[in-house]
Amino acid sequence: MFENLKVWMNGKLVPWNNANVHLLSHGFSRASAIFDVFGIHPSPDGPVAFRMDKHLERFFRSAELLGMEIMYDKNQITEAVAECVKANNIKRGLIKILGYYSEEAIISLVLDSKLDVAIFAIPESDEIGLDSAEPISICFSDWRKIHPATVPVEAKACSNYLNGMLARKSAKQRGYDVGIFLTTDGYVAEGSIESLFMVKDGILKTSKLGNILRSITRMTILELAPKIGIETKETDIMPQELLAADEIFLSHTGIKVGPVNRIEDRVLSPVPGEITKKLQQALNDIITFKDERFKDWLQPIDI
Ligand SMILES: Cc1ncc(COP(=O)(O)O)c(C=O)c1O
Repeated sequence: MFENLKVWMNGKLVPWNNANVHLLSHGFSRASAIFDVFGIHPSPDGPVAFRMDKHLERFFRSAELLGMEIMYDKNQITEAVAECVKANNIKRGLIKILGYYSEEAIISLVLDSKLDVAIFAIPESDEIGLDSAEPISICFSDWRKIHPATVPVEAKACSNYLNGMLARKSAKQRGYDVGIFLTTDGYVAEGSIESLFMVKDGILKTSKLGNILRSITRMTILELAPKIGIETKETDIMPQELLAADEIFLSHTGIKVGPVNRIEDRVLSPVPGEITKKLQQALNDIITFKDERFKDWLQPIDI
């Protein structure tokens, strides 16, 4: 499906099927890898990247939180993204940047090497579903969100996604789309790859930082909402509060805002609710250049 694409790997564009590491690489066998993902959107002047500066900041922060160093700096990675977008002629799609130790390791846990970097530019597809979301059903997961005292949850570390995989699997087995993690203290955290928002009495609430990923879409929504007349609150949310919400939606880079139509046995209606719809519309206006106020969020790719 992707074999015609080129991957930027440590300074070279290589065919998709050659973007490989050894099975005993530290990155693979010890899961010592980080990543970040952001959207590419068409504009009259060529493709633009949605908040690439923030995504790259988070990529470097993920490395820092794990005591890792990346082989390239932000400028080099920005140029590499442009090269990759151009080589693959991407107008609309996703960029995935991966930082990983390609060095093989049998016993070693700590390496002196720097993280290798691979960049993938992937065109929009049904799987990606950029900026569109079908209504989502959610349940509470039996698996709890990894505690921040065990690994830094704000790092977008590949290994953290085993936790996410377990929650998604058990939700699917129960007939739901997404399992929502509670923290080990019993508060609502987030989905496997989604932030969570709820509306109650006109106020938009989301779980406070500390136990969740520092999501760029979450940050974007929290910045945008007050500018379109929506009051926001970052707070601890109890499961009972979520069950009684007027509206719920999930968010991430791919879908942006995905309305929830069912939580456990409770059906939510109408979907999307009024505030969810307002946010979807506002975000759509931004990525289609109808709202000038946020044009800095769409960053030209210099190609
Ligand atoms: C655990 C988790 N929460 C939230 C998000 C949403 O983050 P972003 O908006 O930066 O895509 C993701 C994205 O992959 C995630 O993995």
